[in-house]
Amino acid sequence: MRTQVVIIGGGPSGLLLGQLLHRRGIEAVVLERKTRDYVLGRIRAGVLETGLVRLMEEAGVAERLHREGHVHDGTRIAAGGEMFHLDFKALTGTPVIVYGQTEVTRDLYDAREAAGARTEFEVDHVAIHDADSDRPHVTYTQQGKDHRIDCDFVAGCDGFHGVSRQTIPLSVRREYEKTYPFGWLGILSRTPPVDDELIYANSERGFALCSMRNANLSRYYIQCALSDHPEDWTDAAFWGELRRRIPREVAERLVTGPSIEKSIAPLRSFVTEPMRWGRLFLLGDAAHIVPPTGAKGLNTAASDVHYLYHGLCQFYEDSDPEGIDRYSERALLRVWKAERFSWWFSGLLHRYPDQSPFDLKMQQADIAFLRDNESQQRAFAENYVGLPY
Ligand code: FAD
Ligand code: DHB
Repeated sequence: MRTQVVIIGGGPSGLLLGQLLHRRGIEAVVLERKTRDYVLGRIRAGVLETGLVRLMEEAGVAERLHREGHVHDGTRIAAGGEMFHLDFKALTGTPVIVYGQTEVTRDLYDAREAAGARTEFEVDHVAIHDADSDRPHVTYTQQGKDHRIDCDFVAGCDGFHGVSRQTIPLSVRREYEKTYPFGWLGILSRTPPVDDELIYANSERGFALCSMRNANLSRYYIQCALSDHPEDWTDAAFWGELRRRIPREVAERLVTGPSIEKSIAPLRSFVTEPMRWGRLFLLGDAAHIVPPTGAKGLNTAASDVHYLYHGLCQFYEDSDPEGIDRYSERALLRVWKAERFSWWFSGLLHRYPDQSPFDLKMQQADIAFLRDNESQQRAFAENYVGLPY
């Protein structure tokens, strides 16, 4: 068969790109390795920038997001036993929206199904052929049968472990990476959030984050050792450790309950350049990873979608390749800024095993500067709510 764009990966970037293209009459097929339920079972990001919200609106899938999402005008930072508030709305005029990645993905799957757009689940052995020619094609197997799709373009939205990035020859690809000597242990619980805002905490015992999904669903994270396993952490041990890392008055009003999900994510900064090879484009986690501090992963995937979507519209509607030719350059400029912010914010809040007394003083001074200096607060807020596309 033939289509205009083959999208590899049915996570948020692939689905959002597919839905936006569909609304402009550009045909795309999404190939997803897992089942829909498996994809929807992954608990990940929870904070959406308005840029992503605007894309969801343009894709015609923002109705539930506006109904059920929670507008957050600021955030709290706790350190050294005290806590301060950063008011995004006052500093930038823009809030963020708390609405889970799972819900974004569910809304996109529902819209795709309603539109009769094609998504193939449980595909295996996906391979991209002739991406450096004008006639690429993609092969895969499904239930033991071989398939081939000819197309104009391939969008690699298949995450960090996908095939798309690996298809770009090593002679062309340059990768930049930083790993961090700790992970995040996260739990989800059917309990009311401890605060109306998110709380990012720097403590002697390591980082903690109090987040939420809705009025009766909370998401909490604590920095943990890379060698830890979720099974090693009983719920009681998790709650005890969280309590010790957040200010006392917050710990006192924390409502605990059984975890309904518990997982550990390692922290990594990673970028591959370029994000295009011939007619293959990389988007989202296929091209870059940020440590989760600051919630930039999903939002940076969305900005890639924005640039490629407009590039493809320009190509098909105006016969102008400028947008796709400059895709990699435009996307990377914003990606590196999100990498910088996530790296800096991670450094501000975590305990590092090799941190010297001097390093600790620098961290404390950096936090005090953020607390006391309005220019620094504004720079923080502009990055947190999302830099312009
Ligand atoms: P993905 O969501 O990874 O989607 C890729 C899709 O491609 C998957 O569905 C996968 O099954 C499919 N796929 C992979 N290989 C193939 C193949 N060969 N063929 C076909 N399909 C394939 N970000 C935040 O902002 N906050 C967080 O708290 C947060 N927590 C995270 C926790 C974890 C454990 C992880 C891994 C990421 C987290 N992130 C978080 C990052 C955020 O979730 C990602 O940036 C976001 O999911 C990127 O979307 P994506 O569509 O590019 O990639
Ligand atoms: C969440 C995750 C983040 O990394 C973050 O900075 C804020 C919120 C979350 O999962 O709710």
